[in-house]
Amino acid sequence: AALAAGAAWAQDYPTQPINVVVPFAAGGPTDTVTRLVAQAMSRELGQQIVVENVGGAGGTLGAARVAQANADGYTLLLHHIGMSTAPSLYRELPFDPLTDFEYIGLVTEVPMVFVGRNDLEVDTLEDAIAWIREEGENVMYANAGIGAASHLCGLLFMNSIDTQMTTIPYQGTAPAVTDLMGGQVDFLCDQTTNTTQQIRDGSIKPFAVTVPERLDSLPDLPTTAEAGLGDFEITIWHGLYAPAGTPDEVVSSLTAALQTALQDETVIERFADLGTAPSPQEDATPEALKAKVESEIELWRPLIDAAGVYAN
Ligand code: MLT
Repeated sequence: AALAAGAAWAQDYPTQPINVVVPFAAGGPTDTVTRLVAQAMSRELGQQIVVENVGGAGGTLGAARVAQANADGYTLLLHHIGMSTAPSLYRELPFDPLTDFEYIGLVTEVPMVFVGRNDLEVDTLEDAIAWIREEGENVMYANAGIGAASHLCGLLFMNSIDTQMTTIPYQGTAPAVTDLMGGQVDFLCDQTTNTTQQIRDGSIKPFAVTVPERLDSLPDLPTTAEAGLGDFEITIWHGLYAPAGTPDEVVSSLTAALQTALQDETVIERFADLGTAPSPQEDATPEALKAKVESEIELWRPLIDAAGVYAN
């Protein structure tokens, strides 16, 4: 009887506003992606979607919050690649990405850019690397905590140039970019969704984009390969989740709304302007997101173990 009642209730979903937790600071890349998609999903679902920023510990605090939330479809999580790196980086992780969530679908995959403060005396990635090698731990590298996209990019970068910088962690890259503009830190590797505008208006200095092809949105920016970093490459995928046990009907409604949102003209245009694109429809599914989370856990584990960087 309880099950039947639950199913009938789920058919009316949603009857009240939905909360989406962004596990990083407001105004940053995850927040930007979430607000654009949430607005379009909200039109489709006929309910308001409220974004709640729960930053800290590289996105793991916000994810833990949603893992423990009621499985009623009114608390969701929009998180990135950090969902798959956290199990290797955090030996004491308060949630399990494979059992504590229902998967709604992939949302987007975003390139990153190496950027520096404007008054750096170097203008090319090659010169920046030479300067970092000279200065080593005097160089301040900002990131959004262990497991953040900016942390992973920095990790790969420092490994590939065989030099450590001093890391300054923030609750998200929105405050990190603010400090980069203020000259309090020297470098950051951040997603194009949080750096394109600042690069265009000249408030931060761009060095290279972390994908093999130049971006239409920043056509003058060389790729890491062009800039001499060989096959260095990283993109940041994002997915939408609900707590484990959320009824199937609710998950299906959310997947359908996500798919519609990702075909929305405004979403497509804003994403393109920020150097990215919505995930294709076949990836905006629970199966595709689950497969991504699983395969990326396997992909990153050996890299993280080799680097020996653990949060706890
Ligand atoms: C954010 O939204 O602040 C980020 O995605 C930070 C990061 O992971 O680097």
